[in-house]
This record gives sequence, structure tokens and C-alpha cells, in this order.
Amino acid sequence: MYDGQDFLRDNRWCLSRRALLTGAGAVGAAGLLSACGAGDTPAGGAAATAGTVLARTGDVPVGGGTVVDGVLVVQPEAGTFTAYDATCPHQGVRVGAPRDGVITCPAHNSTFSAGDGARLGGPATRGLTEIPVRVDGTDILRA
Ligand code: FES
Repeated sequence: MYDGQDFLRDNRWCLSRRALLTGAGAVGAAGLLSACGAGDTPAGGAAATAGTVLARTGDVPVGGGTVVDGVLVVQPEAGTFTAYDATCPHQGVRVGAPRDGVITCPAHNSTFSAGDGARLGGPATRGLTEIPVRVDGTDILRA
């Protein structure tokens, strides 16, 4: 289950970016840190290519999910696996695993359906981008 500790681990680099940008070396550091997106956390995940194993079926709890390399893999119903680009369409912050069927962005509380990624509320103006996956045995692969 993706939780606050996972969020901090995944976003450690950009949190450090903020600290650097408030320091004296802001100009030089900004260029080095351009890999981070417009938001406070890395954006543009979901870089896995077709055939890449994203997760194992046992790693994705029913009703929950896990974020791997910018891809949020969810299992809204037992045996049904779906994946989304974990980048929030509002300002690029990484969303967390769903709770009670709802995926929430920790930055400004946009919410999305775990079933189809549709926007449910908040400042995001569209839903999450679905990433095609297939299951082969216990592997969940990018299709
Ligand atoms: S970045 Fe996700 S709601 Fe603002």
C-alpha cells in the first residue's frame, strides 16, 4: 500500500530541490534539477516500455495499489488490474494509492476513480492517463 512514507521516499529529490532553490546556489542548482516537473514532485513517470514488469499481482492489494516508476498499478476488484500514469494532471504531483476506490493527489486533493481514472473532484480538469497492462502469471506488464 502506498502511504506517506512512500510519498516521502518517492519525492525526496524534489523536496531537496526546494531547499536548494531557497539557498544561495539557486541559479546553478535550477539547471541540475530540471528533471523535476512543474509541481513539487517528479513528473513524467510512466516511462516503462511495453513488456516491462511493473509489479507482481501479490504486490497490489485488492482495493489498493502501488506506484512503480511513475506508474500507479491498482486492483479495484479482485483479479482486475489497471494502471495509470501517477502524475496528477493538475500540476504534476505524484498521486497515491487508492482508498475506498478513490485516488487522491496529496498536493491539492484532486480525486480520481480507481476504476477508470476519471476525475471525481478537485482542481484537476481531467482524469488520470491510463496505461495499458496485461497479466502474465503473477507479472503485471506494460502492454
Ligand atoms: S497537483 Fe494534484 S491536485 Fe494539484
